[in-house]
Amino acid sequence: MKKALSIIVLSLFILNIGSLSSQDELTASMKRGEELYLGYCITCHMSEGEGIEGVFPPLAKSDYLMADKKRAIQTVKFGTEGEITVNGVVYNNIMTSLGLDDQEVADVLNFIRNSWGNEGEMVKVKEVAKVK
Ligand code: HEC
Repeated sequence: MKKALSIIVLSLFILNIGSLSSQDELTASMKRGEELYLGYCITCHMSEGEGIEGVFPPLAKSDYLMADKKRAIQTVKFGTEGEITVNGVVYNNIMTSLGLDDQEVADVLNFIRNSWGNEGEMVKVKEVAKVK
């Protein structure tokens, strides 16, 4: 009897996970992404994503970040270098690859693209996998 009950509870739990809405999925991904941001990105892009003008570009309200999802994936997955213009300021510096896996790239992008006033469509792991 006890076993039957725990099976019922377990299946309810699994069903509940299966029905997570995409908003819940985004929230969970952003939460993991925030941890990654604190560990990997904050030293250059700063605590509010404001960066350091002329050296490290901002992520908060970054026109460059928000304009092109695929390019954003590429940047975080592989790093980037060369001249770019972010919010009207030119940067010509290097960001090396941080060695994140596809899930981590998606999570940190979901965090930065939905924080500090940014609002972006969710980045899925399979989209990250497609970017080579
Ligand atoms: C060592 C410093 C450093 C770290 C750490 C770093 N970046 Fe960058 N990032 C840069 C620099 C420098 C550029 C601009 C490169 C250029 O001039 O082409 C950049 C550019 C970017 C851009 C595109 C430009 C923009 O502002 O929209 C994004 C997005 C970005 N970084 C996200 C991240 C994320 C996410 C992390 C952590 C996983 C991270 N960066 C970690 C230095 C860093």
